[in-house]
Amino acid sequence: MKVTAAITAVGKYLPPDVLSNADFEKLFDTTDEWIKTRTGISERRILKDPTKATSFMMAEAARRVLEQRKINASEIDVIIACTVTPDMMFPATACLVQNEIGAKNAFGFDLSAACSGFLFGLSTGAQFIEAGRYKKVLVIGGDKMSAIIDYTDRTTSILFGDGAGAVLLEPTTDGTGVLDHILHTDGSGKDFLYQKGGGSLHPASVETVNAKWHNIYQDGKTVFKSAVTGMADVSAAIMEKNGLTSDDIAYLIPHQANLRIIDATANRMGIDSNKVIINIGMYGNTTAATIPLALADAIEQKRIKRGDNLIFAAFGAGYTWGAAWVKWGYNT
Ligand code: COA
Repeated sequence: MKVTAAITAVGKYLPPDVLSNADFEKLFDTTDEWIKTRTGISERRILKDPTKATSFMMAEAARRVLEQRKINASEIDVIIACTVTPDMMFPATACLVQNEIGAKNAFGFDLSAACSGFLFGLSTGAQFIEAGRYKKVLVIGGDKMSAIIDYTDRTTSILFGDGAGAVLLEPTTDGTGVLDHILHTDGSGKDFLYQKGGGSLHPASVETVNAKWHNIYQDGKTVFKSAVTGMADVSAAIMEKNGLTSDDIAYLIPHQANLRIIDATANRMGIDSNKVIINIGMYGNTTAATIPLALADAIEQKRIKRGDNLIFAAFGAGYTWGAAWVKWGYNT
């Protein structure tokens, strides 16, 4: 029987400090009401400790996966660290996580696909398993967005938070696991959501700092429209490709960028809101962490059972977007 990659454990880490809508009311002209209505967000978590960064949150999430699965870090074969806020330009954050958790037999690398990072990492990791080369792949999505936010930009700063989520992929032949995925890139979206400075084109200089090129820039309206179309289309496409109807879907676990984008995707799929895992209100957009965090929350709430068909869907900078069909393998 065909080997697929089952998700056998899920871990999350959220920093303790809360940044609420009321906090933003003190920073610039905005209201709790405006933020909630336009985005669905009430608060986000922020990693305030300046000595800690994305690798710390990823390692914490990974440790929870190891505890849950009752395995030693030395058993991990591969670490895929999905992030756009690496601790440093290099070495890869995956190397830092590998060292931090003591995964001495693993190799690792970073994967940059912004808000679609976890989905791209999941698909990549699943294929390592399907190929039969590796038995235990950690896919971690994590971002310290607070490190690149301009907290005077009221349109963008309100959206993002910090966090990390991790899953363990292992081979199975019982028909569960990551059963399909569709991924897209359209680089013409590069002008609407980016961090301009710090790369080889615009290395850090007094000018890049003064121009705020090390902060995230977003044309919110344009990204919003593209995200609605992209996420809804790809979610409908993965259902159609696999002959799935809305009745077959137990849950949509979407990237949490804006509640209105999530609602549009669910509408297009024809599924009720009670079948959509939503936690954007508490965490905001944690970029590569949103899907594993939402999955971890759903598991904590014991909402998912063996055999459930889950659709993961995301849209992010690049543009990058995609969807995955996962048949769940155990009762939560
Ligand atoms: N508080 C109050 N008013 C605000 C505000 C805030 N925090 N931020 C923006 N506004 C104002 C704008 O200045 C604008 O005022 P104006 O009409 O006088 O110019 C007005 O609200 C409407 O702004 P607009 O940009 O049209 O709002 P919107 O409904 O498009 O919502 C976003 C803005 C950013 C919430 C929305 O565009 C969005 O979510 N975009 C997608 C973001 C995203 O998903 N990014 C990640 C992709 S993975």
